[in-house]
Formats: sequence, C-alpha cells, structure tokens
Amino acid sequence: MRIFMDTANIDDIRRGARMGVVDGVTTNPSLLANEGVEYRDRVLEICDVVDGPISAECISSDPDELVAEAQRIAAWHPNVVVKIAMSESGLEAIRRVSAEGIRVNTTLIFSANQALLAARAGATFVSPFIGRLQDGGHDGMEVVREIVTIFETHGLPTQVLAASIRSTRDVTEAALAGAHIATLPPNVLYQMVHHPLTDAGIERFLADAAKYAAV
Ligand code: G3P
Repeated sequence: MRIFMDTANIDDIRRGARMGVVDGVTTNPSLLANEGVEYRDRVLEICDVVDGPISAECISSDPDELVAEAQRIAAWHPNVVVKIAMSESGLEAIRRVSAEGIRVNTTLIFSANQALLAARAGATFVSPFIGRLQDGGHDGMEVVREIVTIFETHGLPTQVLAASIRSTRDVTEAALAGAHIATLPPNVLYQMVHHPLTDAGIERFLADAAKYAAV
C-alpha cells in the first residue's frame, strides 16, 4: 500500500517527503482554507516537493462546468489528479475527462456501489471516507474490503485510496483490507514512526553508549 499525505500544509509535506515514504498528496477545499494561499500556487509548490499524484479538487456542480474546471486544473502540472465528488454530474464529467486522459480521483465515496460507478466512468482512484463512515457508526473498512474485492473480481484497474483516516490503526486496517493507497493526515504519519518500546530502546542504547564512549 502506498502512502499519500492528506494535507495542504507545505511544511508537513516537506517533512513527510524527507522521511522518504510519501508517494503523493491529496488536498481539498477545506484543507486549503486553512492555508491562506491560492489553490494553484500551493499545488505547484507541492508538485516541487513530491513527485507523484497530487489531487486538487473541482467545486463546480454542472457537468460542463466540471469538465472545464477539471481541464483547467489538470493543466497546472502533469502530476495533478483532479478530484471530482460522486454525483450524477460528477460521473458524466469523469467519463468525459478521463476519455481525454485526465486522471480523476472520485471523492466522497461512502459505498461500494458508488465506487463501482466511479470505476465504470473511468476514474483512476476512488476515495472511500473511512473516518466519516466510522463517525456515523458504520464499518468504513468493510466498505474498503468490498470495493477491493469488486475491483479484483471484475478486473477493474481503478485504485482504492483510503481517505478520511483518523488513526494509526486505520492505516493498518486499510492495508489489511487491500487498499492500494492510504492518504494520511500528518499527525497520523508521524505517530506511525513511533512505538513506546522503540523510543525507550533508543534512550537505553544512548545511555549505555555514553558509558563506553566516555572511557
Ligand atoms: O481525503 C479526504 C479527507 O481529507 C477527509 O478527511 O477527516 O475531513 O473526514 P476528514
């Protein structure tokens, strides 16, 4: 499973990239709203730091406007993937722009059937929102498992991008469920590095090394 970062904060993206484990970035209007910068400018900054798929979201609702917006956003940089939300208009736009070679990440996926429709329309990625399903008392990972099974059973090339990840446990479960990618908030990525026994072990090795270093 590949690791993406789910943030528009450039300092976090630089930190994640330095760790050498970040294969892509997902952004959305809510994440950009915290940054106080132009969407295009920030996406181009991110493209300079991470050489992989960088998702940027369309906000139009009319299919023709969605197509025009997706074409405009996709032209920002070859690594840009356009995010289009699941809806009838969204599916129409996905079909039209994916036929032109534009890669689409279908966002706000909450069921296997929605993912199936997005895949049939030509989406490159589908993003089931695990945390928001769990917030509503549903089993988000079951939805991921269903989507993975359906795509494998029917030979659909669309990749499952587990989104709305809230904890390190979600990452493990997304990997076990067969997600191709998980997009992580920065704090979840940083927490994954640590284990209390690792941290205590490093401290003890350093304390012991100080004893012989001194002689
Ligand atoms: O990638 C989608 C993600 O940003 C949504 O996360 O935490 O707002 O449900 P959240």
